[in-house]
Amino acid sequence: MPLNGPALGHLQILLVEDSAEDAELICDMLEQAGVAASFQRVDDEDGLVEVLSSGRCDIVLSDLSMPGFCGMRALELVRELHPRMPFVFVSGTIGEEMAVQALQQGAADYILKHSPGRLPSAVARAVREARSEAERARVEAELMRAQRLESMSLIAAGLSHDLRNILQPLLIVPDLLKTRSDDPRIHQLADVISECGLRGSEMAESMLSFVRGSRRSSERIEVERLFNAVDLLLRGSLPSKVELHTELKGSGLALDGNFTELQQVLLNLALNAIQAMPEGGRLQLLAEPVTDVDGCAQLCIRVIDTGIGMPSDVMERLFSPFFTTKATGTGLGLMSCKRIIEGLQGSIQVTSQVGEGSQFDLLLPISGGGAVRSESIGDLPVGNGQAVLVVDNIATRLSLLGNALSSQGYRLSMASDGAGALHHVQQHGLPEAVVIDTALPLMPASQLLRELRALGFSGPALLLEDPAQPVDPAALADSGPLHCLRKPLEMQHVFRAVDAMLAEAANASAPA
Ligand SMILES: Nc1ncnc2c1ncn2[C@@H]1O[C@H](COP(=O)(O)OP(=O)(O)OP(=O)(O)O)[C@@H](O)[C@H]1O
Ligand SMILES: [Mg+2]
Repeated sequence: MPLNGPALGHLQILLVEDSAEDAELICDMLEQAGVAASFQRVDDEDGLVEVLSSGRCDIVLSDLSMPGFCGMRALELVRELHPRMPFVFVSGTIGEEMAVQALQQGAADYILKHSPGRLPSAVARAVREARSEAERARVEAELMRAQRLESMSLIAAGLSHDLRNILQPLLIVPDLLKTRSDDPRIHQLADVISECGLRGSEMAESMLSFVRGSRRSSERIEVERLFNAVDLLLRGSLPSKVELHTELKGSGLALDGNFTELQQVLLNLALNAIQAMPEGGRLQLLAEPVTDVDGCAQLCIRVIDTGIGMPSDVMERLFSPFFTTKATGTGLGLMSCKRIIEGLQGSIQVTSQVGEGSQFDLLLPISGGGAVRSESIGDLPVGNGQAVLVVDNIATRLSLLGNALSSQGYRLSMASDGAGALHHVQQHGLPEAVVIDTALPLMPASQLLRELRALGFSGPALLLEDPAQPVDPAALADSGPLHCLRKPLEMQHVFRAVDAMLAEAANASAPA
C-alpha cells in the first residue's frame, strides 16, 4: 500500500485541466496507487465556480496554463471560495519562480506531468494536512467558546452578587413600611416594591445558576398566588382602555416550577397582549385543569387578548430569537417563555386571528402536592430589649438590618467587620445573640465566632450565608447554637429567625 497514514476515504477530486488525455493519466495514476476517488473535470472559470459552489470537493488538481484560463487564477478563486481547500498544481512545466509563487499563494504542492510518481502521496498529504488543519481550527474555536463562556460566567457571577446587594433594601424596606403604617395604599405599594425586589434577586440567582449549568430550584406554586403576583405587577402599567380579567376554573390548582421564572413567562405574554391592543381591549388570564390525548391531567394556563392578532408569517417565526415586529422590541420575550416552559416539560400552543386577537395556551404538568410557599406576612414577632450584635461589611444591609431589628424592639449594636465586633464586645459586654454575614473580609465568620465564644459568648448565632458559598456548620466547629439564613434576606424571615433563636436559648437556659 503506497499511501500510509490514516484512511482517506473516498475522495471527490476536481481536475482543472483542458486536456482529456492528461486528465485520464492523472486518474489512472491515482487509482493504481489505491486512492479511491471520483473525478470531475473543468477547464474554465465558470465551470470551476459552479462545481466549487454546488458540490462537495476534497482537493483541486490544476494545470498551470490552459487556453482561456490559468492555474494561478484557479488558485485565486479556490482560495476565495474555500480558503482551506487543498490545491496541487500538476503541470507540464513549472519554472522555479512560478513554483515559489504558487506555494506562496497557498498551493500545497506542485507535480510535473513528466514525472508524476509523487502525485498520489502529494494528494494524500495535502488532504490529510487540510483535514487536520480544519480539526485544529474546530478545536481552537471550541476552546475559545469555552473560554468566552468561562469569562461570561465569572462576569455573571460578579454581577449577580452585586445585584443582590443592590436589591437588598427592596426586600427589607417594604416590610418596615408595612409595620409603620396602617394605610392600605402604602401596604399595596410596599407589596409591589417587595415583589420587584424578590423577582430581581431571584433573577440574579437564576442567571447565576444558568451559567453554572444547574437547574433553578423548583417548588410547588399555587396558580392563584402566581396570578395575584402578575396582577399586582401589571396593575400599575395597565393602560386604562385595557381590562384585565383573571379566572381560576378549579380550586387548589398548582404546579411545580420556579416562581420567578413562571411569573416572567406570564408577564412576557401579558405585556405582548397589552402591546397588541393599542386601542384597548380585554386581557384574560385563565387557569384550568385539562386532560391531554393520553388522558393525563394537565394544567392549562391561557393568556388571551382581543388585539391585532398575527398573520401566518409572524406565527411561523414567533419563537425565533430576535424576531420582533416592534420598533423597540428585542424579540427575546417568547423565546425565553418557550425555554422556561419546555424546561418544565410543558408546551405552548398558539392560536390567532388577524384583527380579532391571540391566545397562548401553556400546558404544564399539574403538581402532585407538597409544601406551598407561603408569603403572608402575618404578625411579625417583636423583641423585648434583647441585645443583638449585627456584623456585616455591606453598609446598606448593616444599617437596614440594624434599623429593622431595633424597630422590632431589640437593642442593637453593629460592626462592619470581625475586629470591630470584638472591640465592641470588649467595650460594652456580650450580646444575647449575634447576626453575622459569612462573607466578611479579613476575619472570617468562623474565626469571629471562635473569638466571641472565647470571650464567653454562649448565645445563638445567625449566619447570613451566600447561596454561592453555603456554610457547612460541621466545618465551623462552633460550640453554641447556630442558625443560617440564605441571602437575599427578607426582613420577615430575619425577624422570625432572631425571635426563634432567642426563644430557644431562653428555654435552654430556663431552670427545668
Ligand atoms: N399577543 C400577541 N399579539 C400579536 N402579536 C404578538 C403577540 N405576542 C407576540 N406577538 C408577535 O411576536 C413577536 C415576538 O414577540 P416577543 O415577545 O418574542 O418579542 P417582542 O415583544 O417583539 O420584544 P420584547 O419582548 O423584547 O418586547 C412580537 O414582535 C409580535 O409581532
Ligand atoms: Mg414581548
